[in-house]
Amino acid sequence: MSKILITGGAGFIGSHVVRLFVNKYPHYEIYNLDKLTYAGNLENLKDIEASENYNFIKGDIVDQDFVQELFQAHKFDSVIHLAAESHVDRSISNPTEFIFANIVGTVNLLNVAKSIWDEDGNNIFYHVSTDEVYGSLGNEGLFEETTPYDPRSPYSASKASSDHLARAYWHTFNVPIKISNCSNNYGSHQFPEKLIPLMINNIQHNKSLPVYGAGENVRDWLWVVDHARAIDVVFHNGKIGETYNIGGHNEWKNLDLIHLLCDIMDEKLAREEGTSRELITFVKDRAGHDMRYAIDSSKIEKELGWIPSITFEQGLEQTVDWYLENKEWLDRVTSGAYQEYYSAQYQ
Ligand code: NAD
Ligand code: DAU
Repeated sequence: MSKILITGGAGFIGSHVVRLFVNKYPHYEIYNLDKLTYAGNLENLKDIEASENYNFIKGDIVDQDFVQELFQAHKFDSVIHLAAESHVDRSISNPTEFIFANIVGTVNLLNVAKSIWDEDGNNIFYHVSTDEVYGSLGNEGLFEETTPYDPRSPYSASKASSDHLARAYWHTFNVPIKISNCSNNYGSHQFPEKLIPLMINNIQHNKSLPVYGAGENVRDWLWVVDHARAIDVVFHNGKIGETYNIGGHNEWKNLDLIHLLCDIMDEKLAREEGTSRELITFVKDRAGHDMRYAIDSSKIEKELGWIPSITFEQGLEQTVDWYLENKEWLDRVTSGAYQEYYSAQYQ
């Protein structure tokens, strides 16, 4: 196994996966295929772009002919598929874009894998997915691999659909798939429309901190590098046709997390204690807002020996430091198209 196509490698999680594979496996040839949407940024990979085993291809997985020609030309051994529209709020304002990128894009990749790979060819089609496919939890319980699907936003419905299609291609055509469903990621290089980098960015600029509804919703946070490590483990040691849940046993109510971030930022920016909390503004709730996500990751822990490598306190501190040290990155990605979208939402 030597030629691996990683889709969405210029995005947040994808860039961490590309970095890990390029550095850890110098004998693999890594091809990063990315459309470079607002969320994709080659600056995320500056540190490895000159590596001999790294290649970048700009392209759109929705373009069936392009995907077919690319596979014909390169004969990839395996695919790690992360490319997607990933932001729930955007899926509420523009669902169709998510259907194309997340469903049609995945089917295009599955179709070429089906037509090009031999059944005994030692290939892997690894589909990277989300815990949101399982729906929303009440106060109790955890998402298990066997939890019935109940997606409730256009984003999660599109990811659920792509999961089902990946499984269908395994059962029907023997395309050798693996799937993982992960909880909320945080860390460096995340586009600042997602909760944690949005709050850090707004606190820095003394802008209001929009809390949806009462801030009671719960998310289960995992450091992105630990997600990339889990993807590495599932890719190499996970069973074909299987699903693995990935999560950090780290549930936070949104408002508690925002308070924590405000306090860390006050300290880092040498502001008087409580200053950043004053920026908190309760805004209209997200339509169909899922109440609670929480992952049972015992299968990957027991079967593949993966566990998170750092605590949330360590990860959050590193993350805050990264955004404070990379103000230019933040300023660049928040200029232009993003500003227009953000202004339309909140001003
Ligand atoms: P992201 O939005 O940061 O990055 C997505 C990347 O995909 C971008 O680089 C973008 O340019 C690229 N892309 C989008 N449409 C494309 C297309 N049509 N053709 C080629 N490239 C395209 O997303 P992320 O947060 O890094 O998520 C990556 C994957 O992981 C997604 O599949 C997402 O569903 C899944 N996931 C994310 C989280 C999370 O917390 N962010 C958690 C679990 C699973
Ligand atoms: O669970 C995994 C999923 O986590 C991934 O599949 C998605 O790609 C990723 O975007 C993320 O989805 P969420 O909707 O949970 O993440 P987001 O950062 O958008 O929101 C986290 C919580 O914070 C959610 O309850 C909504 C709330 N929120 C979010 C924003 C952006 C706010 O209260 N205010 C905000 O401004």
